[in-house]
Amino acid sequence: MSAAIDWRPDDPATLADPYPLFARMRDEDPCHWSPRLKSWVLTRYDDVKRVCTDKDRLSSDRLRPYFASLPGTEAQRIANIVRYLSLWMVFKDPPEHTRLRRLAGKVFHARSMQAMRPQVEQIAGWLLDRLDGRDEFDAIAEFAGPLPCLVIMAMLGVPRDALGDVKRMSDDMALFIGSSRIAAEKYDTAEGATREMAAFFRALIDARRREPRDDLLSALVHLRDDDGDRFSDDELVATCIMLLFAGHETTTNHIANGLLALMRFPQQMAALRADPGLAPAAVEELLRYDGPSGAQVRIVAQTHELHGRVLEAGQRVFIMLNAANRDPRAYDEPDRLDLARDGVAHLTFGYGPHICLGFPLARTEGQVAFPLLLDRYREIEPAVEQPQWINSLVFRGMVSLPVRVRRA
Ligand code: HEM
Repeated sequence: MSAAIDWRPDDPATLADPYPLFARMRDEDPCHWSPRLKSWVLTRYDDVKRVCTDKDRLSSDRLRPYFASLPGTEAQRIANIVRYLSLWMVFKDPPEHTRLRRLAGKVFHARSMQAMRPQVEQIAGWLLDRLDGRDEFDAIAEFAGPLPCLVIMAMLGVPRDALGDVKRMSDDMALFIGSSRIAAEKYDTAEGATREMAAFFRALIDARRREPRDDLLSALVHLRDDDGDRFSDDELVATCIMLLFAGHETTTNHIANGLLALMRFPQQMAALRADPGLAPAAVEELLRYDGPSGAQVRIVAQTHELHGRVLEAGQRVFIMLNAANRDPRAYDEPDRLDLARDGVAHLTFGYGPHICLGFPLARTEGQVAFPLLLDRYREIEPAVEQPQWINSLVFRGMVSLPVRVRRA
């Protein structure tokens, strides 16, 4: 009998490579109780997929119970976080989720996202032009970070010169969203950033209400559905913050994790360089191999059994998307990066009613970014032996990714 699984999510070695531990969980304890997280942890492909559609027994409403458990003074301390994040569709169940998603989907749909491709190409090219003459740079700070942020800003209609402020506010908010346990002073930072971001969008919304432009924000502000339903003012602010936040933190990590994977599998990188037409398949495989989604969280709504364990109503469940994506029950040789892989779809964008609203945009960005990088540089390699990984359960990404390059 092997030793009990002791998952320490903030152990640096586990952060750098969580996959051996995920393999043990999948094989030995697929419905694992983590005493540290006081939560269940699911790692098998089939379980993850099923749980994502099981809206009767599992709830996405994970913030309300958490906010309700806070003493009054604590809740007051994060009043803006409570006010706006409570309105994010990702934390809602039907019928509220259905309504918010339907409204947002009226303007934020596959067509409007795919139409962004020329702007994505323009922004990505501009970012790389700024690096001309450099043979070493941080691929996150200089490229993977600003690219998706500038793209979602452009789509919403946020002026490009706000990039520094937007990035800072968003990174500070990630202190709350990206972690399950954080120090109290970080709550203050995240609360300040949410207050600032709300004020920023409220001013922009007012401006678009007075004078609509050809941007998504104007469309959201003036949106009425067939029944006359519309976003309230707070919902508008919350939706803008959510789109901006969700729209780039994950995509940044996708581009950076994907680039690291390509550097670690040079033959695969060479194949993509030789045939940029591989890009759509390559993006899917990079999302599967080391995607930016760490864990999704659900709350047990009805007590039920799974793999002989009893999940009690009210308990938390961590759904490990990256673990599911490496399940040998779903993929042959799952630890091998194979850009030509064919088979079941990865779960990196989630599954079921909450499947990522922005995946057409994220895909477009990946499909532009990787071929462009490989076209621009004939050599690209890591400039550090081991990059530092973000200490988060929710995000899978690096703090920085220094690279050395030679221009084509
Ligand atoms: C590679 C990049 C991305 C990844 C891996 C990703 C992943 C995910 C996942 C796993 C979920 C499901 C959450 C759950 O089930 O609780 C989700 C939801 C969501 N994502 Fe993404 N996302 C990415 C990019 C984006 C972009 C670019 C946008 C928008 C601009 C976006 C907006 C959203 C929204 C609004 C939701 C909530 C959907 C709902 O609850 O119905 N995401 N994303």
